[in-house]
Amino acid sequence: MCGIMGYAGQKPAAGIILEGLARQEYRGYDSAGIALRCEETIINAKIVGRVSELTRKVKNMPPECSVSTSGIGHTRWATHGGVTETNAHPHESSDGMIVLVHNGIIENSREIRTRLESEGVKFITETDTEAACQLLAVLYKERGDARSAMSALTAELRGAFALVIMFRDIPDEIWCARKGSPLVAAFDGSASYCASDPTALLEYTHDLFFLEEGEMASLSPSRCEFYGFDGTERRKKTIRLNWDSVMADKGHFDHFMRKEIGEQPDVLRLTIDAHTIVTNVAMDKSLTLPSGLMKQIRRVQFVACGTSYYATLVARDIMESLDGELDIRAEVASEYRYRNVIGGGDTLAIFVSQSGETADTLAAARIAKAKGTRCTAITNVRGSTIDREVEHTLLSMAGPEVGVAATKTFMGQISLLALLVMALLKDRGTLSAGDEARLIGGLRTLPALQQAMLEREDEIKLLAEKYSDSKGFFFIGRRECVPLTLEGALKLKEIAYLPSEAYAAGEMKHGPIAMLDEKLTVVALAPDTDLREKTLSNVEECRARNAPILLLASEGDEGARAHANDIIFIPRTEPELFPFIGVIPLQLFAYHTARTLGRDIDMPRNLAKSVTVE
Ligand code: G6P
Repeated sequence: MCGIMGYAGQKPAAGIILEGLARQEYRGYDSAGIALRCEETIINAKIVGRVSELTRKVKNMPPECSVSTSGIGHTRWATHGGVTETNAHPHESSDGMIVLVHNGIIENSREIRTRLESEGVKFITETDTEAACQLLAVLYKERGDARSAMSALTAELRGAFALVIMFRDIPDEIWCARKGSPLVAAFDGSASYCASDPTALLEYTHDLFFLEEGEMASLSPSRCEFYGFDGTERRKKTIRLNWDSVMADKGHFDHFMRKEIGEQPDVLRLTIDAHTIVTNVAMDKSLTLPSGLMKQIRRVQFVACGTSYYATLVARDIMESLDGELDIRAEVASEYRYRNVIGGGDTLAIFVSQSGETADTLAAARIAKAKGTRCTAITNVRGSTIDREVEHTLLSMAGPEVGVAATKTFMGQISLLALLVMALLKDRGTLSAGDEARLIGGLRTLPALQQAMLEREDEIKLLAEKYSDSKGFFFIGRRECVPLTLEGALKLKEIAYLPSEAYAAGEMKHGPIAMLDEKLTVVALAPDTDLREKTLSNVEECRARNAPILLLASEGDEGARAHANDIIFIPRTEPELFPFIGVIPLQLFAYHTARTLGRDIDMPRNLAKSVTVE
C-alpha cells in the first residue's frame, strides 16, 4: 500500500516524479523519498511526512539533481519497520550499486536478511524491502547483467511486490517487476514511466502497459521492453484508458472527498445512460454476461471489502427483494477466502473492488475460480488485476477517486450492481416487467433527487458541527437502511476518528442500548416504508435512554419530527433505491464532522485507499 513512480526520459525527472507521487499519495502517506541519477551517481532524498515536504527537500538537493532526467520515487504506508527516514524508500544496497523502491510485502525477507548478514552484508533499515535490495546487489555482482539478476531475484522473493530499480552503472534505464502488487508502465515517444496507479501517468499518455503477474520490464527514454521473470522477452499491447487526468484534480473544492461526493449524480446518470433505454434494461454489450448463464446458476455470491462490501449488501437486498428463490449471499472477502464456501459451475460470484487490487478480494476470486465458480468482477480500474483474472468484468463509471474514503465509487458500484442484478434476473426469467419499469424509472429520477439532497449541505453542516462533540455515534436502521448504517458509521470512523457503530435497529435492545446516554448520538434511518413504525419504536427506546436522535426521514413526513432532536428530510424514492439518496447526507455528515474536528480528510491517518497486503 505504497505509491511508486519511475521516469527515464529527457526532461527534468524530479518534478515528474514528485507530481506522480502526489497523485498517488492516497496509497500511503507516512513518509516519502526520491532517488535521482546525477551523472555517475544516484542521489537520494527522504522525509517522514507528506510529498509536499519531500518537494521542499528536493529543492535543497545538489544543483545537478535539477537536471537529472531519470529517477524513482515512493510514498509509503508502513508495514515492516516504523515510520522513520531510514525506513523510507528508496533503499540503497550497501555496495551502492542498487537503488530500489517497493510496494508489497516480501514474506521471506527474514531468511534472506539472515543469510546475507552471515555473508557480511550490512543492513541499515528494519524493512522487508532492504532484503530485496541487498539480494539484488549480490546477484548483480555475481551475474554482471541486469536482466539475469532480476530473474534470479524474482525467483527468490516470496510474497507480493512491485519493484522499481536503478542500477548505478546502467544510466538512463530503470527496471521494474510485478508480482501481486499493481504496476503500470507507459512510453510517450521520448520517455518511459512506471507507477502503481494509472492516474499518475495520464498526464503523459492514455496508452498504458499493465504488467501481468510475473512480468518485468526495462524502461529507457527510447523504449519499454518486457520480459517474463525467466528473462524471455514478451510483446505487450497497450490498453487505452479514457480517464481524463483533470478528473483527478480538486477543482475549487477544499477536499477531493467533497468534490467526489458532489459528482455522484453524474456517476449515476452516466451508468444509467450507458446501460438502459428509457423503460427497459437494455442488454448492453458491457452488461451482458455469457448468454444463458443464469439458466445454470442456483447461487449468487457477492464478495468484497470495506465500502465495496457495503455496496454488495445493497445489491444483495435488491436481488433478494425481486427473487425469493435464488440463494444470494454477500461475503467479506477476507473471510470468504478462508471459509469453505460452496462453489462450482452453478454458482456465480461477483467480486466488487474499486481498485481491482485489494489482496483479500483477489485471493477470494482465485479460490472461487479454483472451485469452478463462474466469476465476474465490478471494478473502477480497467486493466487492474481483478479485471484480468476473472471471466468477465463490468467497469463502474466513477472515474478516478482520490479521497481515501470512498464516496462516488460506492455510487458507481451500487448503480452498476442494481442494473446487473436486474439484467441477471431478466435472463433468469424472474424479473417482472412491472418491477423492471418501476426500478428503471426510479433510477432515472435519482440524479435530480441527489442534487436536491446535495443542496441541503448547509443544514447538514450545522448538524455536524452541533454533534461533533458526541462521545460516539450509533447508526440504526432496518432492511434497505442497514448497508447505509454501516457505511455512515464507517465514514465517520475513517475520517473523523470517532467511535461509531452500526446496528440493525431491532438489535439495539440486545446489548448496544446499554451504552446509551446523553453524549452518545443515535443517527436513525427511518424512511417512509412499511418498516417506518418499527424503526421509530426503536428510536423511542433510544430516546428513553436520553440519547440525542438525529433522524433521516422521508420528505413530508412531518410526524417523524416528534421522534427526533434533529431531522434531515430525504427525497422520496422506491424503497429499494433509498440507499442511492440516503448515503449522501451520511457522507456529508462525516465530511463536515471531520472538518469541524480539523481532521486530514483526504488522507486520514493509518489508512490507505488500496490495500494490496493481506
Ligand atoms: C480500503 C479502502 C476502502 C475500500 C476498501 C476496499 O480499505 O480504504 O475505502 O472500500 O479498501 O477497496 P476496493 O478497492 O477493493 O474496493
